[in-house]
Amino acid sequence: MFNTMTITKTSGALIGSLLALLLLFWGANSLFLVRPPAGADHGEEVAQAYSIEVEGGGTEEVVEEEIDFGALMASADAGAGERVFGKCRACHKLDGTDGIGPHLNGVVGRAVAGIDGFSYSGGMVDHVAEAPEWTPEALQAFIEDPSGVVSGTKMTFAGISDAQDRADLIAYLQSQP
Ligand code: HEC
Repeated sequence: MFNTMTITKTSGALIGSLLALLLLFWGANSLFLVRPPAGADHGEEVAQAYSIEVEGGGTEEVVEEEIDFGALMASADAGAGERVFGKCRACHKLDGTDGIGPHLNGVVGRAVAGIDGFSYSGGMVDHVAEAPEWTPEALQAFIEDPSGVVSGTKMTFAGISDAQDRADLIAYLQSQP
């Protein structure tokens, strides 16, 4: 009984708000699509104002998704980055010797596939022509999605999705000459 009442009330409220929305759209449409009796210019202006409003909403969403990596780097925390490096430690060392992956001393600004004696994948060697240097920007993109950025890489790592974590990690790597 109680459930039926709840369902009835809920669907009643839902249908009510849908109806209000419909009325709103209908009202807005009739407002904006009114044709002035004479002077076509005026009519166009009204139509433009309407479409700009919609575009503006779309643009805002895009801006929200963009990452200002420069700003993140400026406030990056190398100490927090050292903890993030725990995800790399199994394969990468910072003592100048190579493991499963090449050592990462001085990797910020280093040449891509630049460690003599390390056997890089063909994908990584090819990547040199596209982007020869590990700039902070290039590093953060690679660390976010290794195989997406360097197709055929043998670095089997899913990536770090948190942009702040990537910035902190690069700040830490920058402190490791
Ligand atoms: C499972 C092992 C593994 C893990 C974990 C891993 N890597 Fe790698 N990494 C590799 C291998 C292997 C390569 C060589 C890739 C190739 O040749 O395609 C590599 C290459 C790299 C390179 C390119 C180096 C150069 O000399 O061009 C960078 C930069 C790098 N890794 C950073 C990282 C960072 C930062 C992390 C942690 C967030 C990480 N990797 C985690 C195995 C790993």
